[in-house]
Amino acid sequence: MTIKITTQHLSMRFKERVLFHIPELSIGPNDAIYLKGDNGVGKTTLLKILAGLMNPSSGKINTPNKNWLQRLSLCTGHKDVIYLHQTPYLFDGTVFQNVSYGIRFQQQSNIEKRAQVITALRMVGLETLADEHISVLSGGEKQRVAMARAWIIKPSILLMDEPSASLDQESIQRLVIMAKDLIERGSSLVITSHQANALTQLCRKQWWIKDSTLVESPLLQVIPDIEQEKHYVNTRTN
Ligand SMILES: Nc1ncnc2c1ncn2[C@@H]1O[C@H](COP(=O)(O)OP(=O)(O)O)[C@@H](O)[C@H]1O
Ligand SMILES: [Mg+2]
Repeated sequence: MTIKITTQHLSMRFKERVLFHIPELSIGPNDAIYLKGDNGVGKTTLLKILAGLMNPSSGKINTPNKNWLQRLSLCTGHKDVIYLHQTPYLFDGTVFQNVSYGIRFQQQSNIEKRAQVITALRMVGLETLADEHISVLSGGEKQRVAMARAWIIKPSILLMDEPSASLDQESIQRLVIMAKDLIERGSSLVITSHQANALTQLCRKQWWIKDSTLVESPLLQVIPDIEQEKHYVNTRTN
């Protein structure tokens, strides 16, 4: 669960244009990072590079070599680094099927898997929609399904790309519950957003892409709204 990624001299260029050059970067173990920057500075590109979905123009990315035990855990459904897309791809099926997809290879009984999916759906407040087809859900509900699908895999590092764009407050709070739970379990999160919100308030560090490079700084923890927390914890356990 607690891996670390480091990079050296990461550069991204599109033709002649240098998007960014980042001398050094490190995520994890157990980080919560708010990645900010204006539109078009390269936040999505950086997350995709860190997730291994895109190659940088130059530079080195070090992910830990997996030992046999970790390789085995991949077969049981754990993933190291997950990129959560801004407009998530969900497949043609029910809400339940979409969430259970993440743990389809886990060596557990169907009853145990079902219990996990139901827990995930409760956390995002969608348990009553488990059997609905994904196409009837609103944008915010789909984002919650995507988060539940990522949460159930318990990734070491979850890269959340503009997760709160166009979400209502309830959906943001649901994502906060899952994000907090992952942090408590030892995962690292990177959350991009062009503005601060309840999700970015979980972060202890800030990465700011500016002038084609990245500046890291600590973030002050904001004291959470206790009453709001209690409300969502209660609805989660009911
Ligand atoms: N495959 C690509 N080819 C050319 N330019 C690209 C490609 N992908 C992204 N870009 C450009 O890189 C810049 C950064 O994009 P992006 O990482 O999406 O920024 P952000 O997420 O910060 O808004 C944009 O100007 C975008 O047009
Ligand atoms: Mg982006």
